Amino acid sequence: NKGITILGIESSCDDTSAAVIRDGVILSNVVASQKVHEEYGGVVPELASRAHQQNIIPVVELAIKRSGIDRSEVSAVAFTRGPGLLGSLLVGTSFAKGFSLAMNVPLIEVNHLQGHVLALFIKENGMEFNPPKFPFLCLLVSGGNSQIILVRDYLDMEVIGQTIDDAAGEAFDKCAKVMGLPYPGGPHVDKLAKEGNPLRFEFSRPRIPGLDYSFSGLKTNFLYFLRDELKKNEHFVEENKADLCASLQYTIIEILLGKLKKAAKETGVREITVAGGVSANSGLRSALVENAKKHRWNLIIPKFEYTMDNAAMIAITGYYKFLKQEFVGQNTVPFARTQL
Ligand code: KG4
Repeated sequence: NKGITILGIESSCDDTSAAVIRDGVILSNVVASQKVHEEYGGVVPELASRAHQQNIIPVVELAIKRSGIDRSEVSAVAFTRGPGLLGSLLVGTSFAKGFSLAMNVPLIEVNHLQGHVLALFIKENGMEFNPPKFPFLCLLVSGGNSQIILVRDYLDMEVIGQTIDDAAGEAFDKCAKVMGLPYPGGPHVDKLAKEGNPLRFEFSRPRIPGLDYSFSGLKTNFLYFLRDELKKNEHFVEENKADLCASLQYTIIEILLGKLKKAAKETGVREITVAGGVSANSGLRSALVENAKKHRWNLIIPKFEYTMDNAAMIAITGYYKFLKQEFVGQNTVPFARTQL
Protein backbone atom coordinates (compact mmCIF):
# COMPACT_ATOMS: atom_id res chain seq x y z
CA ASN A 1 0.00 0.00 0.00
CA LYS A 2 1.59 3.18 -1.22
CA GLY A 3 -1.02 5.56 0.19
CA ILE A 4 -3.83 7.50 -1.43
CA THR A 5 -2.61 8.85 -4.74
CA ILE A 6 -4.74 11.42 -6.56
CA LEU A 7 -4.28 12.61 -10.12
CA GLY A 8 -5.74 16.12 -10.43
CA ILE A 9 -6.84 17.75 -13.69
CA GLU A 10 -7.56 21.47 -14.13
CA SER A 11 -8.78 23.03 -17.39
CA SER A 12 -11.31 25.68 -16.36
CA CYS A 13 -9.80 28.67 -18.15
CA ASP A 14 -6.58 29.08 -20.12
CA ASP A 15 -4.15 26.85 -18.21
CA THR A 16 -3.96 23.10 -18.76
CA SER A 17 -2.69 21.51 -15.59
CA ALA A 18 -2.15 18.07 -14.07
CA ALA A 19 -0.78 17.16 -10.65
CA VAL A 20 -0.12 14.14 -8.48
CA ILE A 21 -0.66 14.24 -4.73
CA ARG A 22 -0.03 11.32 -2.36
CA ASP A 23 -1.52 11.49 1.13
CA GLY A 24 -1.69 15.27 0.84
CA VAL A 25 1.95 15.62 -0.25
CA ILE A 26 2.65 17.10 -3.65
CA LEU A 27 4.65 14.89 -6.03
CA SER A 28 4.23 16.95 -9.20
CA ASN A 29 2.31 19.94 -10.59
CA VAL A 30 2.59 20.76 -14.29
CA VAL A 31 0.95 23.91 -15.68
CA ALA A 32 0.90 24.69 -19.41
CA SER A 33 -0.14 28.30 -19.98
CA GLN A 34 -1.65 29.23 -23.30
CA LYS A 35 0.12 32.00 -25.13
CA VAL A 36 -2.43 32.22 -27.97
CA HIS A 37 -4.63 34.68 -26.06
CA GLU A 38 -2.08 37.43 -25.55
CA GLU A 39 -2.60 39.11 -28.90
CA TYR A 40 -6.37 39.30 -28.25
CA GLY A 41 -6.05 41.00 -24.86
CA GLY A 42 -8.14 38.33 -23.14
CA VAL A 43 -8.98 34.64 -23.18
CA VAL A 44 -10.71 33.48 -26.38
CA PRO A 45 -12.87 30.49 -25.29
CA GLU A 46 -12.76 28.64 -28.62
CA LEU A 47 -8.96 28.84 -28.79
CA ALA A 48 -8.67 27.82 -25.13
CA SER A 49 -10.63 24.60 -25.72
CA ARG A 50 -8.46 23.70 -28.69
CA ALA A 51 -5.23 24.34 -26.80
CA HIS A 52 -6.49 22.21 -23.86
CA GLN A 53 -7.23 19.43 -26.34
CA GLN A 54 -3.65 19.58 -27.63
CA ASN A 55 -2.04 19.93 -24.20
CA ILE A 56 -3.96 17.58 -21.95
CA ILE A 57 -2.23 14.26 -22.77
CA PRO A 58 1.37 15.59 -22.73
CA VAL A 59 0.67 17.56 -19.53
CA VAL A 60 -0.73 14.51 -17.72
CA GLU A 61 2.12 12.32 -18.96
CA LEU A 62 4.67 14.83 -17.73
CA ALA A 63 2.95 15.14 -14.33
CA ILE A 64 3.00 11.36 -13.89
CA LYS A 65 6.61 11.12 -15.05
CA ARG A 66 7.75 13.89 -12.68
CA SER A 67 5.87 12.37 -9.75
CA GLY A 68 7.94 9.21 -10.06
CA ILE A 69 4.88 6.98 -9.76
CA ASP A 70 3.50 4.47 -12.19
CA ARG A 71 0.05 5.41 -13.48
CA SER A 72 -1.34 2.12 -12.13
CA GLU A 73 -0.70 3.54 -8.61
CA VAL A 74 -3.33 6.29 -9.04
CA SER A 75 -6.17 5.72 -6.53
CA ALA A 76 -8.62 8.21 -8.12
CA VAL A 77 -8.78 10.99 -10.69
CA ALA A 78 -10.11 14.42 -9.67
CA PHE A 79 -11.16 17.07 -12.19
CA THR A 80 -12.53 20.62 -12.16
CA ARG A 81 -16.25 20.52 -12.82
CA GLY A 82 -16.70 24.30 -12.72
CA PRO A 83 -16.98 27.22 -12.60
CA GLY A 84 -15.13 28.13 -15.79
CA LEU A 85 -15.41 28.17 -19.56
CA LEU A 86 -17.63 25.29 -20.64
CA GLY A 87 -15.57 24.23 -23.67
CA SER A 88 -12.41 24.22 -21.56
CA LEU A 89 -14.04 22.31 -18.71
CA LEU A 90 -15.30 19.67 -21.14
CA VAL A 91 -11.74 18.76 -22.14
CA GLY A 92 -10.57 18.07 -18.56
CA THR A 93 -13.85 16.34 -17.67
CA SER A 94 -13.73 14.04 -20.68
CA PHE A 95 -10.11 13.19 -20.07
CA ALA A 96 -10.80 12.37 -16.41
CA LYS A 97 -13.73 10.16 -17.38
CA GLY A 98 -11.59 8.32 -19.91
CA PHE A 99 -8.79 7.83 -17.38
CA SER A 100 -11.26 6.60 -14.77
CA LEU A 101 -12.71 4.04 -17.19
CA ALA A 102 -9.38 2.87 -18.56
CA MET A 103 -7.69 2.52 -15.17
CA ASN A 104 -10.83 1.43 -13.32
CA VAL A 105 -10.44 4.10 -10.60
CA PRO A 106 -13.08 6.37 -9.03
CA LEU A 107 -13.90 9.78 -10.48
CA ILE A 108 -14.04 12.86 -8.22
CA GLU A 109 -15.48 16.22 -9.24
CA VAL A 110 -14.04 19.37 -7.71
CA ASN A 111 -15.38 22.89 -7.45
CA HIS A 112 -12.62 25.19 -8.67
CA LEU A 113 -13.24 27.70 -5.88
CA GLN A 114 -13.05 25.04 -3.20
CA GLY A 115 -9.77 24.02 -4.81
CA HIS A 116 -8.37 27.55 -4.43
CA VAL A 117 -9.18 27.43 -0.70
CA LEU A 118 -7.85 23.92 -0.08
CA ALA A 119 -4.57 24.81 -1.83
CA LEU A 120 -3.66 26.02 1.68
CA PHE A 121 -3.43 22.35 2.72
CA ILE A 122 -0.93 21.17 0.13
CA LYS A 123 2.04 19.59 1.90
CA GLU A 124 5.53 19.68 0.43
CA ASN A 125 8.12 17.04 1.19
CA GLY A 126 10.66 18.32 3.70
CA MET A 127 8.90 21.69 4.09
CA GLU A 128 7.21 23.06 7.15
CA PHE A 129 3.44 22.56 7.01
CA ASN A 130 1.50 25.47 8.43
CA PRO A 131 -2.18 25.13 7.50
CA PRO A 132 -4.92 27.39 8.85
CA LYS A 133 -7.07 26.19 11.71
CA PHE A 134 -10.84 25.87 11.35
CA PRO A 135 -12.86 28.01 11.24
CA PHE A 136 -11.04 30.49 9.04
CA LEU A 137 -11.90 33.21 6.56
CA CYS A 138 -10.54 33.08 3.03
CA LEU A 139 -10.39 36.11 0.78
CA LEU A 140 -10.64 34.49 -2.63
CA VAL A 141 -9.60 36.94 -5.31
CA SER A 142 -9.04 35.86 -8.89
CA GLY A 143 -9.80 36.84 -12.46
CA GLY A 144 -13.33 35.48 -12.18
CA ASN A 145 -14.18 35.74 -8.48
CA SER A 146 -13.99 37.95 -5.42
CA GLN A 147 -15.44 36.29 -2.38
CA ILE A 148 -15.11 36.05 1.36
CA ILE A 149 -15.54 32.44 2.39
CA LEU A 150 -16.14 31.13 5.88
CA VAL A 151 -14.41 27.74 6.00
CA ARG A 152 -15.66 25.48 8.80
CA ASP A 153 -14.03 22.28 7.60
CA TYR A 154 -12.27 20.90 4.50
CA LEU A 155 -15.52 20.38 2.66
CA ASP A 156 -17.76 22.74 4.61
CA MET A 157 -17.53 26.28 3.25
CA GLU A 158 -19.94 29.18 3.02
CA VAL A 159 -19.65 32.26 0.84
CA ILE A 160 -20.50 35.16 3.16
CA GLY A 161 -19.67 37.95 0.70
CA GLN A 162 -19.09 38.15 -3.03
CA THR A 163 -18.91 40.51 -5.93
CA ILE A 164 -22.20 41.52 -7.44
CA ASP A 165 -20.54 42.38 -10.77
CA ASP A 166 -16.83 42.26 -11.77
CA ALA A 167 -14.08 40.41 -9.91
CA ALA A 168 -11.04 42.20 -8.46
CA GLY A 169 -8.80 40.59 -11.10
CA GLU A 170 -11.11 41.88 -13.82
CA ALA A 171 -10.83 45.38 -12.38
CA PHE A 172 -7.04 45.11 -12.56
CA ASP A 173 -7.09 43.63 -16.07
CA LYS A 174 -9.70 45.92 -17.61
CA CYS A 175 -8.16 49.12 -16.22
CA ALA A 176 -4.74 47.89 -17.33
CA LYS A 177 -6.11 47.34 -20.82
CA VAL A 178 -7.30 50.94 -21.14
CA MET A 179 -3.81 52.06 -20.11
CA GLY A 180 -2.43 49.93 -22.96
CA LEU A 181 -0.75 47.33 -20.72
CA PRO A 182 -0.49 43.71 -21.94
CA TYR A 183 -2.92 40.98 -20.84
CA PRO A 184 -3.30 39.96 -18.06
CA GLY A 185 -2.67 43.42 -16.68
CA GLY A 186 -2.74 42.66 -12.94
CA PRO A 187 0.98 41.81 -12.59
CA HIS A 188 1.94 44.86 -14.72
CA VAL A 189 -0.12 47.20 -12.56
CA ASP A 190 1.51 45.66 -9.49
CA LYS A 191 5.00 46.30 -10.87
CA LEU A 192 4.33 49.87 -12.00
CA ALA A 193 2.48 50.71 -8.77
CA LYS A 194 5.73 50.25 -6.84
CA GLU A 195 7.09 53.45 -8.43
CA GLY A 196 3.91 55.49 -8.06
CA ASN A 197 1.98 57.59 -5.56
CA PRO A 198 -1.13 55.73 -4.35
CA LEU A 199 -2.79 58.93 -3.13
CA ARG A 200 -2.31 60.98 -6.30
CA PHE A 201 -5.70 60.12 -7.86
CA GLU A 202 -8.90 59.26 -6.10
CA PHE A 203 -11.27 56.72 -7.64
CA SER A 204 -14.79 55.80 -6.63
CA ARG A 205 -15.50 53.13 -4.08
CA PRO A 206 -18.77 51.23 -3.93
CA ARG A 207 -21.20 51.86 -1.16
CA ILE A 208 -23.06 48.60 -0.83
CA PRO A 209 -24.26 47.08 2.40
CA GLY A 210 -23.12 43.81 3.94
CA LEU A 211 -20.05 41.89 2.87
CA ASP A 212 -20.55 42.04 -0.89
CA TYR A 213 -18.14 43.61 -3.35
CA SER A 214 -18.59 45.63 -6.51
CA PHE A 215 -15.86 46.65 -8.94
CA SER A 216 -17.73 47.75 -12.06
CA GLY A 217 -18.22 51.32 -10.79
CA LEU A 218 -14.49 51.71 -10.21
CA LYS A 219 -13.76 50.40 -13.70
CA THR A 220 -16.19 52.89 -15.30
CA ASN A 221 -14.88 55.72 -13.16
CA PHE A 222 -11.30 54.91 -14.19
CA LEU A 223 -12.26 54.71 -17.86
CA TYR A 224 -14.10 58.07 -17.88
CA PHE A 225 -11.35 59.75 -15.90
CA LEU A 226 -8.75 58.67 -18.45
CA ARG A 227 -10.98 59.68 -21.37
CA ASP A 228 -11.44 63.18 -19.94
CA GLU A 229 -7.76 63.64 -19.11
CA LEU A 230 -6.67 62.35 -22.52
CA LYS A 231 -8.83 65.04 -24.16
CA LYS A 232 -6.72 67.66 -22.39
CA ASN A 233 -3.37 65.92 -22.77
CA GLU A 234 -2.88 63.00 -25.14
CA HIS A 235 0.22 61.86 -23.22
CA PHE A 236 -1.60 61.76 -19.90
CA VAL A 237 -1.39 57.98 -19.49
CA GLU A 238 2.30 57.67 -20.40
CA GLU A 239 3.23 60.59 -18.17
CA ASN A 240 1.29 59.30 -15.16
CA LYS A 241 1.33 55.53 -15.53
CA ALA A 242 2.98 54.73 -12.22
CA ASP A 243 0.69 57.04 -10.22
CA LEU A 244 -2.38 55.73 -12.06
CA CYS A 245 -1.39 52.13 -11.29
CA ALA A 246 -0.55 52.91 -7.66
CA SER A 247 -3.83 54.78 -7.10
CA LEU A 248 -5.89 52.11 -8.84
CA GLN A 249 -4.22 49.31 -6.86
CA TYR A 250 -4.62 51.25 -3.63
CA THR A 251 -8.36 51.64 -4.25
CA ILE A 252 -8.87 47.95 -5.09
CA ILE A 253 -6.98 46.92 -1.94
CA GLU A 254 -8.95 49.35 0.22
CA ILE A 255 -12.19 47.87 -1.10
CA LEU A 256 -10.99 44.29 -0.54
CA LEU A 257 -9.66 44.94 2.95
CA GLY A 258 -12.69 46.97 4.03
CA LYS A 259 -15.08 44.06 3.71
CA LEU A 260 -12.55 41.53 4.97
CA LYS A 261 -12.12 43.53 8.19
CA LYS A 262 -15.88 43.73 8.51
CA ALA A 263 -16.21 39.96 8.02
CA ALA A 264 -13.55 39.26 10.66
CA LYS A 265 -15.32 41.53 13.10
CA GLU A 266 -18.79 40.14 12.46
CA THR A 267 -17.79 36.47 12.61
CA GLY A 268 -15.19 36.88 15.35
CA VAL A 269 -12.81 34.77 13.24
CA ARG A 270 -9.17 35.90 13.33
CA GLU A 271 -7.69 33.11 11.27
CA ILE A 272 -7.32 34.81 7.90
CA THR A 273 -6.15 33.40 4.56
CA VAL A 274 -6.05 34.52 0.97
CA ALA A 275 -6.29 32.60 -2.31
CA GLY A 276 -6.61 33.10 -6.08
CA GLY A 277 -4.43 34.81 -8.67
CA VAL A 278 -4.80 38.35 -7.29
CA SER A 279 -3.32 37.22 -3.95
CA ALA A 280 0.03 37.43 -5.75
CA ASN A 281 -0.35 41.22 -5.63
CA SER A 282 2.45 42.67 -3.52
CA GLY A 283 0.38 45.64 -2.32
CA LEU A 284 -2.42 43.33 -1.18
CA ARG A 285 0.08 41.10 0.61
CA SER A 286 1.62 43.98 2.56
CA ALA A 287 -1.82 45.41 3.39
CA LEU A 288 -2.82 42.00 4.75
CA VAL A 289 0.34 41.75 6.85
CA GLU A 290 -0.23 45.26 8.22
CA ASN A 291 -3.84 44.51 9.12
CA ALA A 292 -2.88 41.19 10.67
CA LYS A 293 -0.57 43.03 13.07
CA LYS A 294 -3.16 45.67 13.86
CA HIS A 295 -6.11 43.33 14.38
CA ARG A 296 -4.13 40.36 15.75
CA TRP A 297 -5.06 38.07 12.88
CA ASN A 298 -3.24 34.83 12.26
CA LEU A 299 -2.52 35.39 8.58
CA ILE A 300 -1.66 32.55 6.23
CA ILE A 301 -0.59 33.31 2.67
CA PRO A 302 -0.17 30.31 0.37
CA LYS A 303 2.84 29.70 -1.81
CA PHE A 304 2.68 31.72 -5.01
CA GLU A 305 2.50 28.73 -7.38
CA TYR A 306 -0.59 27.36 -5.64
CA THR A 307 -2.53 30.64 -5.71
CA MET A 308 -2.84 30.68 -9.49
CA ASP A 309 -4.89 28.16 -11.44
CA ASN A 310 -3.23 24.76 -11.00
CA ALA A 311 -4.13 21.10 -10.68
CA ALA A 312 -2.42 20.58 -7.30
CA MET A 313 -5.35 22.38 -5.66
CA ILE A 314 -7.76 20.07 -7.51
CA ALA A 315 -5.77 17.01 -6.43
CA ILE A 316 -5.69 18.08 -2.76
CA THR A 317 -9.46 18.65 -2.80
CA GLY A 318 -9.80 15.26 -4.48
CA TYR A 319 -7.79 13.77 -1.63
CA TYR A 320 -10.19 15.10 1.03
CA LYS A 321 -13.17 13.95 -1.04
CA PHE A 322 -11.56 10.53 -1.43
CA LEU A 323 -11.34 10.23 2.36
CA LYS A 324 -15.12 10.76 2.42
CA GLN A 325 -15.64 8.49 -0.58
CA GLU A 326 -17.33 11.31 -2.50
CA PHE A 327 -17.25 9.91 -6.01
CA VAL A 328 -19.31 10.65 -9.11
CA GLY A 329 -20.48 8.51 -12.03
CA GLN A 330 -19.65 8.69 -15.73
CA ASN A 331 -22.84 10.69 -16.37
CA THR A 332 -21.40 13.79 -14.65
CA VAL A 333 -21.21 17.00 -16.74
CA PRO A 334 -19.31 20.25 -16.18
CA PHE A 335 -21.02 23.50 -15.28
CA ALA A 336 -19.84 26.95 -16.36
CA ARG A 337 -21.44 28.50 -13.29
CA THR A 338 -21.49 26.67 -9.99
CA GLN A 339 -21.69 27.86 -6.43
CA LEU A 340 -19.51 26.57 -3.61
O1 KG4 B 1 -6.75 32.70 -10.10
P1 KG4 B 1 -6.24 33.13 -11.41
O2 KG4 B 1 -4.89 32.64 -11.84
O3 KG4 B 1 -7.21 32.66 -12.55
C1 KG4 B 1 -8.42 33.16 -12.96
O4 KG4 B 1 -9.33 33.43 -12.16
O5 KG4 B 1 -8.53 33.24 -14.22
O6 KG4 B 1 -6.28 34.72 -11.45
C2 KG4 B 1 -5.86 35.47 -12.53
C3 KG4 B 1 -6.03 36.92 -12.17
C4 KG4 B 1 -5.85 37.87 -13.35
O7 KG4 B 1 -6.91 38.79 -13.32
C5 KG4 B 1 -4.51 38.55 -13.05
O8 KG4 B 1 -4.42 39.85 -13.59
C6 KG4 B 1 -4.52 38.57 -11.56
O9 KG4 B 1 -5.05 37.31 -11.19
N1 KG4 B 1 -3.17 38.74 -11.00
C7 KG4 B 1 -2.78 39.87 -10.36
C8 KG4 B 1 -1.41 39.67 -10.02
N2 KG4 B 1 -1.03 38.45 -10.47
C9 KG4 B 1 -2.12 37.90 -11.07
N3 KG4 B 1 -3.44 40.98 -10.05
C10 KG4 B 1 -2.78 41.92 -9.39
N4 KG4 B 1 -1.49 41.84 -9.03
C11 KG4 B 1 -0.76 40.73 -9.32
N5 KG4 B 1 0.51 40.64 -8.95
